[in-house]
Amino acid sequence: MDTHAQLLLVVIFVGSLAVAAAAAGLHPVVLLPAYTCSQLDARLTDEFEPAASAAPSCGGGVLLKKKGWFRLWNNHTALLEDPALVPCYAELLRLVFDPVAGDYRNVPGVETRVVSFGSTRGFASNDPAMKLVEALEAVGYKQGENLFGAPYAFRYAPAPPGQASREFSRFLSRLTLLVEQASERNGGMPVLVTHSFGGFNAHVFLRRSPLAWRRRYIKHFVMASAGAGGAVLLLRFGSSSSSPSPSFAGKFLVLPSPKVFGHAPLVVTRAKNYSAHDIPEYLKANGFSGEEVARYVARVLPVTLDFAAPPAVPMTCVNAIGVPTPEMLVYWDGEFDEEPDEVVYG
Ligand SMILES: *[C@@H]1O[C@H](CO)[C@@H](O)[C@H](O)[C@H]1NC(C)=O
Ligand SMILES: *[C@@H]1O[C@H](CO)[C@@H](O)[C@H](O)[C@H]1NC(C)=O
Repeated sequence: MDTHAQLLLVVIFVGSLAVAAAAAGLHPVVLLPAYTCSQLDARLTDEFEPAASAAPSCGGGVLLKKKGWFRLWNNHTALLEDPALVPCYAELLRLVFDPVAGDYRNVPGVETRVVSFGSTRGFASNDPAMKLVEALEAVGYKQGENLFGAPYAFRYAPAPPGQASREFSRFLSRLTLLVEQASERNGGMPVLVTHSFGGFNAHVFLRRSPLAWRRRYIKHFVMASAGAGGAVLLLRFGSSSSSPSPSFAGKFLVLPSPKVFGHAPLVVTRAKNYSAHDIPEYLKANGFSGEEVARYVARVLPVTLDFAAPPAVPMTCVNAIGVPTPEMLVYWDGEFDEEPDEVVYG
């Protein structure tokens, strides 16, 4: 999946959409960016005690506790100046599952917040989504007037209805308000435009919003480079391509949905093939604990099985043509912690 090539297509598409809308006034646009595009600030409370493995890197956390809010993701400057900080930042970004709350949360003592919700100013400046922002601004869109950004806490993920997912529920409420405000300010219906992982969140958002609300507030849903239904690429847990850590709740959401991929073999070994239906077994073979696998089955799978077009929302998916996309991973000896022996592209 070459997100840059796909993004170029969407830039052209959105450009023509915007030009077409220009005569009647621009429809407000709300942008949801890709997985790691949203920046996060963090603040440490006295409760913070780094895990033993991160303690030297965090300097016991003493200095960081005095900083107040600081940029946690992504803070290239800090990590370039002092690479020894990397284990500390990984610790601050870690999620833990709280069995009592039945939900993921930050490591105790770590508070996080997304930067500049409502605008695209909190997007990472080098992210491909900024090309979209530039293209929209070039045809007359103005930040805060008819162009809005919805960055999200990307480490967290939606849970099925009835299960706790505080961070994601908060995001849904904020996004609902943002769309309503965008509509009121412009007297029109907003267009939701998403890049990559943002499409997964917008999809859940639309599926769960009341039909009457959708009819009233959403003009169009443009999903770019999203690999709708999940991506085979994300089954490469052992290799560098799956960073950041797959223990992030959000990462599981993009594993191939059985509803979309069916029984096709996605991972091939000499002894056994794995389809999207076999992901629990595949996770086990990749060293995930029984608890993590059970959580995938209970928390993630029902969300990915709910994959379907949200009724009453005109929808456009933009994908590039001629960009090789992994369809099957071959690990002859089942050594999943190494690079695949072969990647079959489609
Ligand atoms: C990056 O993190 C360091 C702490 O490690 C902090 O001092 C600095 O202010 C952060 N940068 C920004 C832009 O917040
Ligand atoms: C696994 O799938 C491949 C590709 O479709 C097929 O050639 C092979 O026979 C299958 N192997 C097993 C063990 O089912």
